Amino acid sequence: MKKIIIAIDGFSSCGKSTLAKQLAKELNYVFIDTGAMYRAITLFFLRNNIDTNNTEQINNALKNISLTFKYNIQKGSSDMYLNNENVELQIRDMPVTQNVSLVSTIKEVREFAVAQQQQMGKEKGIVMDGRDIGTTVFPDAELKIFVTSNIDVRVDRRYKELVITNPTITKEAIKENLLERDRIDSSRAVSPLKKADDAIELDNSFITREEQLAIALQWAKEKMNEE
Ligand code: DC
Repeated sequence: MKKIIIAIDGFSSCGKSTLAKQLAKELNYVFIDTGAMYRAITLFFLRNNIDTNNTEQINNALKNISLTFKYNIQKGSSDMYLNNENVELQIRDMPVTQNVSLVSTIKEVREFAVAQQQQMGKEKGIVMDGRDIGTTVFPDAELKIFVTSNIDVRVDRRYKELVITNPTITKEAIKENLLERDRIDSSRAVSPLKKADDAIELDNSFITREEQLAIALQWAKEKMNEE
């Protein structure tokens, strides 16, 4: 079977990472969460008070950012490291979540992240999830999946995750953040979130994780067996 690139895109909190992680495990492929990269860049910008309207400051900041993924055996997945610091928890916090879409609109930030993502896919055998993987990072990916999900289902799923560490969080606040991020991600000038013409849509609103995985695995195997 040939090695392929699997691109998974979609709106916020549609379960893209869950699917990408499961697929990578089943196929023994590398999994890359590109959202974590934009989140780590955002954390650096917040910590260093980078003015997102000042291109010189942005370029200088990017020169001082090193992003790496390191495998966490206990979790069975990779953690995001910013300049050799494990920032996996900080990048999921509200300050980053509220600013990441804005930082992701910046052309220089996208060029910085996309170049590294393309490098990671050189050997193929990769599952990458994000917003522009099938359209910009790997326009020639053999399999492109565009994941969708009903907004209230997405809010419920995210609420269950977040309430564990943040008991005061409300569903209304989550819904507002998701819709706002979707709006910014879909309307930005540089590589906006949109379904690639050759992507297959997978609506997971009313199917289980196992059913979703089975569908995607079937598609992957078909592509891996193609001449
Ligand atoms: O997948 P996520 O929710 O962790 O992504 C966080 C943000 O990063 C998302 O709101 C938009 C941005 N992002 C992006 O612009 N392009 C990607 N390929 C991945 C994420």
